[in-house]
Amino acid sequence: MEKFIIEGGRPLNGSVGISGSKNSVLPILAASLLIKGKCTIYNVPHLSDVYTMIDLLRYYGADIKEGIALEIDCTDIDNRPANDKAKNIRASFLIVGALLGRFKKVSMHMPGGCSIGLRPVDLHLKGFCCLGAVHSFEKGIITIEYDRLRGNEIYLDFPSVGATENIMLASVLAEGTTVISNCAIEPEIVDLADFLNSAGADIKGAGSDTIVINGTDALHGTEHNIIPDRIEAGTFMLAVAGTGGCCRIKNVICDHIKPVILKLREIDAEVKEEDNSVIVASDGRLPNTDIKTMPYPGFPTDMQAIFMSIMAKGIGTGIVNETVFENRFMHVGELARMGANITVEGRTAVVKGVDMLKGANVKATDLRAGAGLVLSGLCAEGITEIGEIQYIDRGYEKIEEKIRQLGGKIERVRS
Ligand code: UD1
Repeated sequence: MEKFIIEGGRPLNGSVGISGSKNSVLPILAASLLIKGKCTIYNVPHLSDVYTMIDLLRYYGADIKEGIALEIDCTDIDNRPANDKAKNIRASFLIVGALLGRFKKVSMHMPGGCSIGLRPVDLHLKGFCCLGAVHSFEKGIITIEYDRLRGNEIYLDFPSVGATENIMLASVLAEGTTVISNCAIEPEIVDLADFLNSAGADIKGAGSDTIVINGTDALHGTEHNIIPDRIEAGTFMLAVAGTGGCCRIKNVICDHIKPVILKLREIDAEVKEEDNSVIVASDGRLPNTDIKTMPYPGFPTDMQAIFMSIMAKGIGTGIVNETVFENRFMHVGELARMGANITVEGRTAVVKGVDMLKGANVKATDLRAGAGLVLSGLCAEGITEIGEIQYIDRGYEKIEEKIRQLGGKIERVRS
C-alpha cells in the first residue's frame, strides 16, 4: 500500500501541463472494439483505470501496442465470458455497447468504480432494450442478447454520460436510425462522436441534447487525439487558488471548465484565459461562495469535493448542493479530521470556513475525494498523510510530480 505525505503551507508557482482526459479515453478505448482496423490514439493518460481497460480489451483479443501513442487493432476479437476485472471500473460497462455491435450476445459483470452512490445502469439497459435487445441477470453477471439490433427513438430520463455513450456505441453498427433525446452533452461525448465519425460512423448532434446516429455497415481504422482532462485542469486551478501563488496551467480547453473559472473569479481569484492555457493567481485566502453540481455545462460533480477543500478554509460560510450523486460527501468526515467545520444534511453541506486547516492522517474514499484531500494537505499547516491513494491514481497522472514541479512538498511512500 502507498500513501502521500504532504507538508502544507507552500504557495504553488510555475507551469504545469494537463494530461489527456480519463473520461474521454475510457469510452474511446471501449469504442475501438467496434472497429476492424488499426486505431492510433494520442494523448492517452497513464492511469490505472486506463491500464484496466487495456487489459480488458486484450482479454477480448485486441492487439495493443503501447508507445507514445496507443495502437489498437480489434479486427480479430472474440466474444468471451464476463471477466472479473470489469468489476474494478465502471467504464468497463461501456464494453457492452461496443460488443453488441460485433456479437449478438454479451455477458458482463455489473460495473464497479467509485462508491459515490447507487450508480444503477437502468438507462443503459433501457437504451439497449429500445434497440431490440433483452437482458437477464445471474450471480452479478448481466447477459444482453438480440436477433436484430435496430435503430429507435430513446428518451433518457436523466442525461446520463455513461448511458449516452453506451447507446451511441450500440447503435453505430445497428440497422437504421437511432435518436437519443435528453442525452448528455459533456465534452467527452463530443470526443467519442468525433472518434467514431473519423472511423466511418454517422453521428450528428453530439454536444446538443439530441444525438442522431445513422447505422453503418462497418468502421475502419483511424487516428485520434484525446481532449485534455477538464477535471485535472480544474484540480490544479483550485490547488493554486487555495495555496496562493501564480501558475500557468497548459493544455486546457477553457470552455470545458468554464464553471470553475467563473466560480474562482466569484471568490476573487484571478483567472486569465488563453488559447491553450489558463493562468490562475491568488493570495490563498478567499471568500466563500455556494456551489450546486449539475450535468454539463453546470458545475461538475467531479469538482465538488475538490472545491469543498478550498471552501473549508475560505472566509465565511458557503453551501454545497450535490444534485448528481446521492452519496458524494464521504470526504466531509476526512476534512473534519483536518479541522474543517462542515455539516451535511441529505444532499446539502454547509461549510463554515476556518482560519487554518491542520495536517492529519486521512484517507481517500474515492478518486475526487482523494484529490480534494491532496489540496487540503497542500493548504494545511503541518504534515498530512493520505492513505488509500490507489483511488487518486485512477484519475491523476503523476500528480505528485506535477505538484512538486510547482513547488509543493509531497512524497509517495510505501506504508
Ligand atoms: C460519468 C463520469 C464521472 C462523472 C459522471 C457525472 C466517466 C467514466 N465517469 O460517470 O466521472 O462523475 O459522469 O458527470 O465518464 N444514473 C441512473 N441510471 C443509469 C445511469 C446513471 O440513475 O443507468 C444516474 C447515476 O446514478 C447518477 C447520475 O445518473 O446519479 C449521473 O450518472 P452518469 O452521468 O451516468 O455518470 P457516469 O457515466 O457513471
